[in-house]
Amino acid sequence: MGWFTRTFSYSIGKKLIMALTGLFLVIFLLIHLFGNIFLYVGKDAFNSYVHTLNETGLKIPIKILEVFLALGFLFHMVDAVWLWIKNRIARGVGYKIKKPDPDSTFASRNMIISALLIFVFLVVHLRNFWYAFHYGDKAPDVTNFDIVVSVFHDPFYVTLYLVAMVLLGLHLYHGFQSAFQTLGLNHKKYTPLIVGLGRFYAIFVSLAFASFPIYFFFFVR
Ligand code: HEM
Repeated sequence: MGWFTRTFSYSIGKKLIMALTGLFLVIFLLIHLFGNIFLYVGKDAFNSYVHTLNETGLKIPIKILEVFLALGFLFHMVDAVWLWIKNRIARGVGYKIKKPDPDSTFASRNMIISALLIFVFLVVHLRNFWYAFHYGDKAPDVTNFDIVVSVFHDPFYVTLYLVAMVLLGLHLYHGFQSAFQTLGLNHKKYTPLIVGLGRFYAIFVSLAFASFPIYFFFFVR
């Protein structure tokens, strides 16, 4: 295999991995959103939901899923940065400024920026909840629900979460249909359907996640 073919098929492999891990994360977000609904049911419901996931027979399967999840995020991000750098080099950054495709959307032109900022959000988010729930130094009378309430009473975190949800919406707005395109699922009849479904998913998921900080900040004392 020549240098060109090797590099080309390597890039296609990376794009495929990005598409597959992206769709895996799309499914994860729906499951995560479903779990978060227990926050609306109430303190006891949410605490026993977290307890069921982490302290019963589900503990081991959940730990295995967490490893897949971490790998999914890792491959998705590393491949994205690799492809972005390669594209920049191929386009000859610094020599000519290429005009953006007039058909491209704001979301599609800014995927790497939304991705990097979502990554920053994710680090803060995991520190806020995942780390605090499992390894945090909390007083005996403080429950996991109380931790969520106290984070979402802080205007700094509420603002950060809301900005992150706008970026997540933008990222998914383009990412969803882009994954299907990479997988070769291009069809005159079905592509507009996939684009529509992706846009609906992006708006629904980001608004639904944004509802939690808003609800706790304004309505839970
Ligand atoms: C804004 C609304 C959100 C709320 C209220 C929320 C809440 C939580 C909570 C309470 C946990 C800890 C669960 C546990 O360890 O048992 C958690 C974990 C996590 N969240 Fe979120 N989350 C939100 C949005 C997001 C978003 C948008 C993403 C992804 C971009 C995300 C990714 C994760 C991940 C990867 C974990 C660790 C999962 C695990 O190890 O089980 N979350 N979240």
